[in-house]
Amino acid sequence: MSKAETIYLKDYKAPQFTIKTCDLVFELYEEHTQVTNLMNIERVDESAKDLVLDSIELELLEIYLDDEKLSEDRYVIEEEHLRVLNVADAFKLIIINKIYPQLNSELEGLYKSGKIFCTQNEPEGFRRITPYIDRPDVMAIFKTTLVANRERYPVLLSNGNKESNFKLDDGRHGATWFDPHPKPSYLFALVAGDLGVVQDKFVTKSGKYVRLYIYTDRGNESKCKHAMKSLKDAMKWDEEVYGREYDLDLYNIVAVDSFNMGAMENKGLNIFNSAYVLADEDTATDANFMGIQSVIAHEYFHNWTGNRITCRDWFQLTLKEGLTVFRDQCFSADLNSKEVQRIEDVDALRERQFVEDASPTAHPIQPDSYMAINNFYTATVYEKGAEVIRMLHTLLGEQKYRKAMDLYFDAFDGQAVRTDDFLWAMGKAGGIDLEQFKRWYHQSGTPKLQVDERFEDKKYTLVLTQKVPKSVEGSEQKPYFFPLKMALLDDNGQEIEARTLIVTQEREEFVFRAEKKPTLSINRDFSAPIIVEQSHNDYAFLMKHDTNSYVRYESAQSFGLQCIENMMKGKEIDEEFVSAFGHILEEDKLDLSFKSLLMELPSVSAIMQRQEIVDFDSIYAAKEKLQKHLALTFKDKLFSIYSKNHTPDSKELDSLSIGKRAIKNRALKLLSALESDEAVAVANEQYNSSVTMTDRIAALDVLENTSPEFSTVALGHFYKKYNKDTLVMNKYFSILAASHREGTLDRVMALQNDPAYNELVPNLVRSLIGVFARNYKHFHAKDGYGYKFVADRIIDIDKINPQMASGLAGAFKIYKKMNRTNKKLMKTELERILLEPSLSKNVYEIVSKIVKG
Ligand code: BES
Ligand code: ZN
Repeated sequence: MSKAETIYLKDYKAPQFTIKTCDLVFELYEEHTQVTNLMNIERVDESAKDLVLDSIELELLEIYLDDEKLSEDRYVIEEEHLRVLNVADAFKLIIINKIYPQLNSELEGLYKSGKIFCTQNEPEGFRRITPYIDRPDVMAIFKTTLVANRERYPVLLSNGNKESNFKLDDGRHGATWFDPHPKPSYLFALVAGDLGVVQDKFVTKSGKYVRLYIYTDRGNESKCKHAMKSLKDAMKWDEEVYGREYDLDLYNIVAVDSFNMGAMENKGLNIFNSAYVLADEDTATDANFMGIQSVIAHEYFHNWTGNRITCRDWFQLTLKEGLTVFRDQCFSADLNSKEVQRIEDVDALRERQFVEDASPTAHPIQPDSYMAINNFYTATVYEKGAEVIRMLHTLLGEQKYRKAMDLYFDAFDGQAVRTDDFLWAMGKAGGIDLEQFKRWYHQSGTPKLQVDERFEDKKYTLVLTQKVPKSVEGSEQKPYFFPLKMALLDDNGQEIEARTLIVTQEREEFVFRAEKKPTLSINRDFSAPIIVEQSHNDYAFLMKHDTNSYVRYESAQSFGLQCIENMMKGKEIDEEFVSAFGHILEEDKLDLSFKSLLMELPSVSAIMQRQEIVDFDSIYAAKEKLQKHLALTFKDKLFSIYSKNHTPDSKELDSLSIGKRAIKNRALKLLSALESDEAVAVANEQYNSSVTMTDRIAALDVLENTSPEFSTVALGHFYKKYNKDTLVMNKYFSILAASHREGTLDRVMALQNDPAYNELVPNLVRSLIGVFARNYKHFHAKDGYGYKFVADRIIDIDKINPQMASGLAGAFKIYKKMNRTNKKLMKTELERILLEPSLSKNVYEIVSKIVKG
């Protein structure tokens, strides 16, 4: 392990040189690309003699310093750097180098996605294109010229505005782009290809005309409508809610099939995983449409929170990501259902971030060290980061929060800053001392809040005790400062009192007056990212009556958890839970999407998180038994909910239609627990007659897990119809990889040879291998073959794409909580991975932390 050194925030040093301008020429060929990079560089640190540029796997051809060709004794080529010796205070440097995008399978730097040249430079990809001071606090003005074959690459794009086009005689052509906004190298992008385009426009509130383009493989243009609408909605929302306008005349989005992440906010030229651009009712689910809306908005919002104001260093990542996730969550909440959005965001946080926070890879939203920065684009930095911003929003209130954001933009526009700078603006405009609040940035693990109540002499006392876990390294951590929304409810569910408490101490009491003992509704809207520990039996009441929809949902979940946990201890099914569930089914005035969330039983992950040593067999047994009991008890009602809401010909995307699909598919899934011919027949009929992908996928999932015969036929039909559409094939692979049926591992192994599968395409790896690794039933099989299979894939894929491989390794984060047998099996595989001779630092970091923990 040569490269596995740890980088510390405390070692941060300002750059010794800065780059004022960067003028690039890319000559793109079928085997290689030649890059000519002209930089104007200035010294900032008097004591620095040599210029050190980041450079990975670059073939240097020539270097010129102030137009003079440099002899070889004037520079040194180091492992990951190019050192130019003894430079002047200000100089012009020209570097000509060669790269091989066609061979780039890591998908960082310049690479090919199918026939399209594209880039991914965040966080440290630019050093794989040309030698550079590749860090976000060096901001330059970029000019880019692309030259390529005209037939193969008619479209040539880069950041900013196009300055000129030119034709060459050998069948080649070129274009020059200029971006007037100084930016760090991670926001640089270029694209060359034969692409279809969809065009639109947006007029900003100050009357500026912006041309909008979405580029995609030819033939997919009709699938860009929703993305384009989402972009315009996002532009408008940022003007209305944050007062922020777009700052170029052009906004380009390009969709590519091979992309490590979801999308990237390159200035004026976003590059997207096609999964977050392309959609129509026939090929995309309702969830896909929502995903596109939020990712398009997220990348657009980065233009202000990320691009105009960027990060000083990568330890500050949550400055732009946590904030921008908060912004996209609010956008989605405003455009769709606020209550459903909040519940789904909280659910996502708990499914992914809470698990991470309880594992040996737990880290604060602002980590203080890392080995591979690529490993820190985590649920913690993103989702917990967004919760931290949300708490600030709650503490300040909408108006002061907006004032604080305005101050942040005024004070730091055009700069590379720290989370502390952001907090300064929040504290100053908010008139609030955030010293203690800062612990949210530097401590890890999810705090628990024990809630006790007393009622005597018309006095209601709430006793709150914070239990802050130790850090991964074992050090003590201190109590947090957070807003806690709560209410006291009377017997009819009316609010006697609703308040936002400010919690700051390890133990605190709050006293209220009340005539009768009230019912407590706590952590409303999930106002703080904590685990509430409360022993009471008000769940049924809160599920039915709470005026806060999040607490209604949460109470249904907690009640379900309590019921399942009791069953796991050998108790009978709690009939009170069953009757509360029945009560929900009868409520006819509820929003259908919300009602379908109330009908959701706790996830296996949620149950597992509360166990010291995880016992999947007993979790599944209890959950399946409860599901079956509910399905039997409410069979008629569930079938009637199904038929009332099943409108097979409708493919509308309004919230009512989406809600109808959500609830009837929830009813169907529950009914499938009966494993009856009737339920299977309904699913089969739905598969055959539906016109939306949402309905087809829901039906396939039910068939796959209940009826091998019907499933084989339906999946065969599906395959025949969609095997050329890789976005749809992702869904096909996911259904099979998530299957609970016997023989799933064998089928997954065989699917690797399917012509539609390709280990070089991250989406396909995620949907087959990644989904299998989260299929608890088969991944944790007692024979250890699930572990062995995933470990083999990690080892293989690491040689192709380390970022992909370390993502898969995340499935082992649960290691510490496994029983002895499984732990031993896991350990064998983890140690085998660590023995790989040329393991990437990405995988090494994750796996070694898991084993050590
Ligand atoms: N800046 C990231 C994309 C990124 C991060 C690319 C790290 C490569 C390495 C982008 O803004 C982002 O956060 N994308 C998310 C989606 C978003 C909606 C949370 C992603 O790609 O998953
Ligand atoms: Zn982002």
